[in-house]
Amino acid sequence: MVLASGTGSLLQSLIAAAVDDYPARVVAVGVDRECAAAKHAEAAGIPAFTVALGDHPDRSAWDRALTEAVTAHTPDLIVSAGFMKILGPAFMERFAGRIINTHPALLPSFPGAHAVPDALAYGVKVTGSTVHLVDSGVDTGPVLAQEPVVVLDDDDEATLHERIKTVERRLLVEVLAAVATRGVVSDGRKAVIPK
Ligand code: GRF
Repeated sequence: MVLASGTGSLLQSLIAAAVDDYPARVVAVGVDRECAAAKHAEAAGIPAFTVALGDHPDRSAWDRALTEAVTAHTPDLIVSAGFMKILGPAFMERFAGRIINTHPALLPSFPGAHAVPDALAYGVKVTGSTVHLVDSGVDTGPVLAQEPVVVLDDDDEATLHERIKTVERRLLVEVLAAVATRGVVSDGRKAVIPK
């Protein structure tokens, strides 16, 4: 099952990959706002639901509502593919160790919602994509895979983010297949996908 908040291009790459002998299917898509990602799900005939923070009295009620909505689809794994909210304690308690996130930087550099402009502002020459398990911190969970992307002198946020997303779309599909097939072993700090 996939959580998303934005244009949903990562979701689209998962939907496109999850056919034939690919070892996972997108059973549902959850969003926290009106966004293109929900429309991609509907277009693909995948159940989509919205759990918006603003529709709940506080973060904790939102956390519980999202946890229940996701639980209803009995997912084995949850992919956060551009979901722009921090998952709450109820969600983490229910799904810990089974949530995969993709982040547009080489963690632990540039965590948070502004990874691409932060990398540009710092002036790094290489950034990239990280796929990791989600823990209760912000982009702190055990790393599953990383791939570098070279920063070009004339990059702006849009051009750099698009090149990173091209990598993210492939890496996420590869990592999800590996985890769905072989699982993941983690001590909470490091994670290994058995060969
Ligand atoms: C990706 O770069 C993801 O890592 C970040 O948001 C972007 C989502 O892209 N958190 P899209 O909405 O799937 O096109």
